Amino acid sequence: MSTRTVLAWSSVLVAIVAMLARHRFFSGDLSCRTIPSDAAWPDISVWAKLNDTVGGKLVAAVPLAAPCHKTLNGQPRALYDEEKCAVLRDTWFFPETHLESPSSPMSYFFSNNTCNPWLGPILHDIREGIRFATKSNIRLVIRNTGHDYLGKSTGAHSLSIWTHNLKSIELLGSFSSSEYIGPAVKMGAGVESLEAYKFAASHGLVVVGGNCPTVALAGGFIQGGGHGPLASKYGLAADQVLEMEVVTPTGDYLTASATKNTDLFWALRGGGGGTFGVVISVTVKAFPDTHASTASMMVPYTGANADALYAAIGSFIQNALPGLVDAGAFVSWIAAPFGFMVAPTMAPGLTSAELDQLMQPMVDTLQAAGLEYQYASVQHASFLEGYQFYQRGASWNVSDYNLGGRLIPRDVALERTDVLVEAIRHISTTALMSGVSYNVTHGVKSPDDVAVHPYFRKTLFGIALGTPLNYTDWSATLAGQDRITKDLVPTLEKITPGGAAYLNEANFEQPDFQRTLYGDHYKRLLEIKHKYDPESIMYAKTAVGSENWEERDDGRLCRLK
Ligand SMILES: Cc1cc2nc3c(=O)[nH]c(=O)nc-3n(C[C@H](O)[C@H](O)[C@H](O)COP(=O)(O)OP(=O)(O)OC[C@H]3O[C@@H](n4cnc5c(N)ncnc54)[C@H](O)[C@@H]3O)c2cc1C
Ligand SMILES: *[C@@H]1O[C@H](CO)[C@@H](O)[C@H](O)[C@H]1NC(C)=O
Ligand SMILES: *[C@@H]1O[C@H](CO)[C@@H](O)[C@H](O)[C@H]1NC(C)=O
Ligand SMILES: *[C@@H]1O[C@H](CO)[C@@H](O)[C@H](O)[C@H]1NC(C)=O
Ligand SMILES: *[C@@H]1O[C@H](CO)[C@@H](O)[C@H](O)[C@H]1NC(C)=O
Ligand SMILES: *[C@@H]1O[C@H](CO)[C@@H](O)[C@H](O)[C@H]1NC(C)=O
Repeated sequence: MSTRTVLAWSSVLVAIVAMLARHRFFSGDLSCRTIPSDAAWPDISVWAKLNDTVGGKLVAAVPLAAPCHKTLNGQPRALYDEEKCAVLRDTWFFPETHLESPSSPMSYFFSNNTCNPWLGPILHDIREGIRFATKSNIRLVIRNTGHDYLGKSTGAHSLSIWTHNLKSIELLGSFSSSEYIGPAVKMGAGVESLEAYKFAASHGLVVVGGNCPTVALAGGFIQGGGHGPLASKYGLAADQVLEMEVVTPTGDYLTASATKNTDLFWALRGGGGGTFGVVISVTVKAFPDTHASTASMMVPYTGANADALYAAIGSFIQNALPGLVDAGAFVSWIAAPFGFMVAPTMAPGLTSAELDQLMQPMVDTLQAAGLEYQYASVQHASFLEGYQFYQRGASWNVSDYNLGGRLIPRDVALERTDVLVEAIRHISTTALMSGVSYNVTHGVKSPDDVAVHPYFRKTLFGIALGTPLNYTDWSATLAGQDRITKDLVPTLEKITPGGAAYLNEANFEQPDFQRTLYGDHYKRLLEIKHKYDPESIMYAKTAVGSENWEERDDGRLCRLK
């Protein structure tokens, strides 16, 4: 909050503490009243004299919500008191709370939105961070978990706003809007997928999160789209959002929802993290928990079965995947030098017998081809049980790969299967290659309801491919990155002309990133970016508006236009 502002709203008998009475500007305009930044503002000794004259009755205005503010202009505040702040939040709407304060306006509007118990330390600190970076012309970065594959949460020589510790989470038992009536979960930006799953499960509910337990919901995940084990049943994570609290690049605190700041609300659901504002919290739909089944399959490469193995992958794509995802299953698979692995498969609401039946076409193919394989399915009482079952023993290591990706639409997968399998073979024999399969048509009425690339709605699976990092040979790492840009991703582009990639699982060097990562939504996203970030304070690689900036070799970020 600005001290000057607080003073401007105070009554006549208000003294000024020394630090506020800095003489910064001279106002020679005698037709205006004097304000604290004017040279003519009485200094502290003059106020002390007034205090003597009125027998010590001069009161220094302290904003009532001061206990909710950790710092003021970067200085720690002795008045900060979490417990008092909590009490204030509970009693703020009673007149009695304000009666004993000489300055707290009951008509909040006239405080100029500077100090209330909800503009707490978090909001204040984020605003100060943005303001400081803006004033100092320093690069600003938003970081949450740091998972981003494209380097969007890292910036050389930058000030970073770190939202990882915003861990609040609460159940809104009956959220109600024109679009949705039902249970919802409101969570701070730092809440991770597994934390959200556990919280929801404790209320007999599920929410759409990531496959990886530590990807947080509100940051790059939801803002980029967000797929996960419940995506085929309910849609993308971005489709579930009911409301977001945001601090914009100009320092404004806004709610984005179906009725408030609707353009920003649209952009934050799939238009990418790190560029429209700092999301403090997100409120998402929650659904009743159900039983769920999981399955895994392994077809090992034996040295001599490569042709049959890749033919079986083609059969899997054609005959098993569509039925699986249409029935609500989320299917991850890997084609690698060691063979073909389908795991995890998560089918919420299906029995294991139902899941087996959907897998049967693949089993038939393997048996007919005489390929060795292992297959197992398990039924679980709840989603969380299934999720934890398939995660057991898995170590989610930091990615050891540079990454590229492409979305594969259903028509290409089904009608040009042979060409596609040839491309998969080319990639998987020399690089890591995984497919994440879903049918995400259920979350939205129209693909344009949210900013997520519309291409997702006709996608059967997204391919993520990677070349290994070499921690002792940087040139080998650079060569691997080059292969992604010049060979591996173009192999997939050739069979998906005019296609798309998932902005969170793409090559950071993706040419024509605007069309590839955002499609027809880019133009509108850019307009919204200019509206909320007119000075282009927020930048991230491949983010909306990033084409106006260049990152130099020394890490300096420079405006191009
Ligand atoms: C191991 C691993 C597993 C993954 N699994 C999945 C998966 O199952 N499904 C899926 O869809 N994706 C998955 N991803 C990709 C993931 O969605 C992205 O990495 C995503 O960017 C992570 O978001 P984050 O906020 O946690 O990470 P960060 O790297 O901290 O941030 C990512 C981007 O969001 C911005 N951002 C972060 N927080 C905020 C905020 N509070 N307000 C505004 N902007 C913010 C950052 O500036 C950056 O641009 C996975 C990634 C990894 C490394
Ligand atoms: C009201 O707030 C705005 C935005 O922070 C600020 O620019 C302006 O100076 C404030 N006005 C007063 C009277 O304090
Ligand atoms: C005015 O004087 C009284 C009595 O000394 C003191 O308690 C009060 O803090 C003073 N007010 C200001 C604004 O300094
Ligand atoms: C998604 O599944 C539904 C049935 O649940 C089906 O009607 C639709 O065609 C599928 N679409 C895509 C693109 O996967
Ligand atoms: C993860 O890292 C640990 C420790 O370096 C290693 O032992 C393990 O094999 C790695 N797991 C995977 C899946 O890469
Ligand atoms: C990394 O590069 C070094 C030097 O070229 C090489 O000896 C080593 O095998 C490479 N490591 C991996 C994991 O590729």
